[in-house]
Amino acid sequence: AWNGLAPTPPMGYNNWSYYQCNINEGLILAQAKALVSSGLAKKGYDTITIDDCWMAKKRNSDGELAGDPQKFPHGMAWMGQQVHALGLKFGIYEDAGDKTCAGFPGSWNFFQKDADTFAKWKVDYIKLDGCNVPTVPGKTSEETYRYAYKSFSDAILHTHRKMVYSESAPAYFQNTPDDWYLVLGWVADYGNLWREGDDIALGQYSGPRKWKSLNYNYSYNVGLWKYAGPGHWNDPDFLLVGDSGLSIDEMQSQMSLWAIMAAPLISSTDLTKISPAALAVLSNTDVIAVDQDPAGVQGHIVQFGETYDVLAKPLSNGDVAVVLYNKGDAPKKIKTTATLVGLKNASSLKLKNLVSKAMTTSQGDIETTVPSHGSVIYRVSAQ
Ligand code: DGJ
Repeated sequence: AWNGLAPTPPMGYNNWSYYQCNINEGLILAQAKALVSSGLAKKGYDTITIDDCWMAKKRNSDGELAGDPQKFPHGMAWMGQQVHALGLKFGIYEDAGDKTCAGFPGSWNFFQKDADTFAKWKVDYIKLDGCNVPTVPGKTSEETYRYAYKSFSDAILHTHRKMVYSESAPAYFQNTPDDWYLVLGWVADYGNLWREGDDIALGQYSGPRKWKSLNYNYSYNVGLWKYAGPGHWNDPDFLLVGDSGLSIDEMQSQMSLWAIMAAPLISSTDLTKISPAALAVLSNTDVIAVDQDPAGVQGHIVQFGETYDVLAKPLSNGDVAVVLYNKGDAPKKIKTTATLVGLKNASSLKLKNLVSKAMTTSQGDIETTVPSHGSVIYRVSAQ
């Protein structure tokens, strides 16, 4: 990839979905500490990213960005030191336009200056949003976004600091499919991951709204598998696992779907009071291993019906990860075959249920009853 980073999908924490602009250094530090004390950091969730609203309203006299002096009285370099002292990586948000979505100073015309500032603060991960990108005479909007996102990518390389680069550009073209595909055609040249669509429902929203939202994000992301690979990933937005309103089956479905899609696993909840059951969903080493498989293939749909999908993802050791996903409101028996999941020549299959850890064998069919809104995720080995 362009910078050699993110050989597997990025993992970590971002405050946005749960806290939006109500952030300060104490809160970020508390979440960072919880990332470590919960054991999630050891499982790979190693980056804590501060989203919009961390900035002072104006650049300083040198034209540099600065943290909001009330919310981050010790400054952003200090914030980064604290995060690094916990053994975590430090992520920060900016915007390619002249203002962030929440109205703080954007990077437009300051690409190199801001990349230099972030490098000085020892930032490891940059999320560059796409609000308020100006109109440039003689350029289409798609060309202007390309100019801005490429400029920031060049600026990052120029700093000589390794920083993962998350681009939001495609998300700003989701209503104009021709442009959306043009943008998806270049994001991997400049960045390591990109948002393609809507924001996942915020933490305070109801369970039904969150359920609908995660299904929506799943449904556009799942078709984009050919754009993903080591160093460059589709990002269907945050994991809501831990939020109120979602059942454990629903949280498990999001985790299993995101893992089989090789999506970034970025939690956005209050980790200081996450339930043991939700923490177990996020911490499942076998499911994380599907997401982080070094082959870096984004799984895709191999069979579907009105209320269910079957997804398969080939893994680096020859196994295949399979998710049987029941979107419907009643339990459903879902059945697929070795051939459909890509194990045509297997004489028998060994299946590990990655949640219950039960081992079973089969002569070729993969069949089980899946609870409403739930999913079953297997690692399947050919014998
Ligand atoms: C839109 C993005 O998609 C969100 O994830 C978040 O970064 C907000 N902007 C912040 O304003």
